[in-house]
Amino acid sequence: MTTPTRAQAVASALAELSALLGDRVSAALAVRDHHSHGEDTHTPAPPDLVCFPHTTGEVSRIVQIAAAHSLPVIPFGAGTSLEGHVQATFGGICLDMRQMNRILRVSPADMDATVEAGVSRKQLAKSLEPTGLTFFIDPGADATLGGMASTRASGTTAVRYGTMRENVLGLTVVLADGRIIHTGTRARKSSAGYDLTRLFVGAEGTLGVITEITLRLHPQPEAVSAAIACFPSIQAAVDTVIEAIQLGVNPARIEFLDGSQVDAVNRYSGIGLDPVPTLLFEFHGTSESAVTESATMAQGLCHEHGCTHFEQQSSLADRERLWKARHDVYYATRAVRPGSRVLTTDVCVPISRLAECIVATRAELDHERFPAVIVGHVGDGNFHVQCLPSDEEYPEAEAFAHRLVQRAQSMGGTCSGEHGIGLGKKKYLPAEHGEALSVMRLLKQALDPENRMNPGKIIDL
Ligand code: LAC
Ligand code: ZN
Repeated sequence: MTTPTRAQAVASALAELSALLGDRVSAALAVRDHHSHGEDTHTPAPPDLVCFPHTTGEVSRIVQIAAAHSLPVIPFGAGTSLEGHVQATFGGICLDMRQMNRILRVSPADMDATVEAGVSRKQLAKSLEPTGLTFFIDPGADATLGGMASTRASGTTAVRYGTMRENVLGLTVVLADGRIIHTGTRARKSSAGYDLTRLFVGAEGTLGVITEITLRLHPQPEAVSAAIACFPSIQAAVDTVIEAIQLGVNPARIEFLDGSQVDAVNRYSGIGLDPVPTLLFEFHGTSESAVTESATMAQGLCHEHGCTHFEQQSSLADRERLWKARHDVYYATRAVRPGSRVLTTDVCVPISRLAECIVATRAELDHERFPAVIVGHVGDGNFHVQCLPSDEEYPEAEAFAHRLVQRAQSMGGTCSGEHGIGLGKKKYLPAEHGEALSVMRLLKQALDPENRMNPGKIIDL
């Protein structure tokens, strides 16, 4: 018997998938193109087929059909990833998880919930409103919880509530051969064997497809306040952050924007801030007096570090405007130089090295030809540089990004705080993990011996 060609394998898979899913499988060019990239600037690569499963059982069957025809499997959520996570580099079957969007269970007493992978974080937060609980992890985009679990996402509130690592209690996962496993329990802690939940969180679909997630919830805070603080220098702003964290001010958010980032935000969102190094704070507490106390403590620290302007934002409308502007930085920055390319970086360093790292980075950027802005979840030591090079300047931006990762790694930090590895950061893993990378490779080979689960991401076999 001769080995079927890829076209034959796809045609056979399509026939079997149509019998299973009806019109919930597509080979249409427009659908494939839509699933060929995230919000990154890596080269798009369309899958051969796109499926829209409704249940874990269907995902299992689709994965079995993919296995029978030696086709790759690429899970797809909201398509907001930034490092080339969803490109079908070797073709194959894309699993668009958006129609698996049921909230399966909410337990106010245990403060947890189980959701399907296609539920978005805003959908979950909205449905939790009557319960007094909420889900806080906020990467900016309205990502799906399956995608967020798969990339170990975090964002603005991780400084207080942790990342997906701390907030996923258990998973349902479909393995490369179609087996369905459940990891974790609903108990808050467990010493029972290997922690498979944390193995799949951040695996970017390279070890299996996450179909259900049990999440930790948090009480909605009784009182919330926010503040904006302006500084004469980056050093002063970041020193304030470091001290605030070390002294236990415990903000729910503490975000840094450099002067050029504030300028971009002003132009895009019309928010009218001074274009200087700026910190945005949010405090959550059980009473007005508790959040006022935190804000007053932060204000004192800001002034000790030469803050030129401190303004509290207590009304809900002001806060919503502020965080909307913060979340739009990606689009605001693109608008600075329409038509340019965008290179987004994401390093994270120990907080004690943060000021040194950001100051050195800005000094380097000031000598580059392309415009660039800095924004960051600085309470965690995590920041992004968005570079806007022309085609001609792109190699210079890449060289800058490379030096930035090396600087972060040399400070004991990481090449990715929250955006993940995908295609974009693979080259940095040997320096970061050394021999531990060979253990990751062993795990990949054990769980996906044919290298069909989101192949080409994180690890090359
Ligand atoms: C942010 C995304 C880009 O922080 O991570 O806005
Ligand atoms: Zn971010």
